[in-house]
Amino acid sequence: MTTTIASLFNPREFIEEQIENVRTSVGAGHAVIATSGGVDSTVAAAIVGKAIGKNLTAVYVDTGFMRKGETEQVRDMLGALKIDVRIIRAEDEFFTALNGITEPEAKRKIIGEKFIRIFERVAKEVKAEFLVQGTIAPDWIESGGGARDVIKSHHNVGGLPKDMKLKLVEPLYDLYKDEVRKVARELGLAISERQPFPGPGLAIRVLGDLTKERVGIVREACAIVEDEIEVAHKQGRLGVLPWQYFAALLPVKSVGVQGDIRAYGQTIVVRAVASIDAMSATYFHIPHDVLEKISRRITNHAGLKEHVNRVVYDITDKPPGTVEWE
Ligand code: XMP
Repeated sequence: MTTTIASLFNPREFIEEQIENVRTSVGAGHAVIATSGGVDSTVAAAIVGKAIGKNLTAVYVDTGFMRKGETEQVRDMLGALKIDVRIIRAEDEFFTALNGITEPEAKRKIIGEKFIRIFERVAKEVKAEFLVQGTIAPDWIESGGGARDVIKSHHNVGGLPKDMKLKLVEPLYDLYKDEVRKVARELGLAISERQPFPGPGLAIRVLGDLTKERVGIVREACAIVEDEIEVAHKQGRLGVLPWQYFAALLPVKSVGVQGDIRAYGQTIVVRAVASIDAMSATYFHIPHDVLEKISRRITNHAGLKEHVNRVVYDITDKPPGTVEWE
């Protein structure tokens, strides 16, 4: 019998080790954690919370790029973990900073820097010297860690300003996603199976002009994709849930027809992939009738039909594509 590297990972030992490490590095200091409600940041919050208790403040920034109902869900989830949470509503600040910016790397850098500035503000209020992040291995590998090329600057790596005063604590730095999920299960966190959601959020699922209207379109389309795929999964039609499944709004308009009237509308791309660690991925075989239902719901939705007249499905693997479109 062969022993795989993955089977050697012991989540319980990892948690104990990290609690000790965090206690040693933070001591009696105060830390803030950047939390998005995703698996990585929630696991990091739970570990650091166990290590330093009330000396941890979780900061959730509502950037305006969150999914439908996400802010409320995160508030309730962190509350249940008895972690002190501050919800910062910064939608206008982010939209202003990103006005006219369409280049993906520029977006990521601006979002990363804004995040840090907000954390610094909260950190000053709570007198924190440490910033905890849920950074995992693919984040720094794809951001050009070691001798590697920059694929994309993950906001929590490439976006860190040079003059940042907070000291970083990154307990999950060497883990891959499947290991983070194992740790989440060991901690009894309900979000252990949640699909990943990128830190820059819907901002990197809107290609082209980043307006509140266009973000609203992709938010609604993402909710429809999630709903239909989760229903199909519950009906046993997919085997497993895809690693990620979402919609992105393309900067492409095409001619269509609505009633008997010519429509010149926008394009939604639906993406669903299978993966183990997001370093590579294959497109997911969603049954055609499920795709059809997604397409019809998007193009008939009261808030979407005046904007979107075409839905396409992305059948690209990673490589050569990436999971997200930016
Ligand atoms: P890509 O698009 O590089 O994505 O194939 C790999 C995984 O990382 C997520 N992703 C991000 N996560 N900050 C994050 O926290 C980011 O800037 C970022 N960019 C991509 C993506 O959703 C996928 O799970």
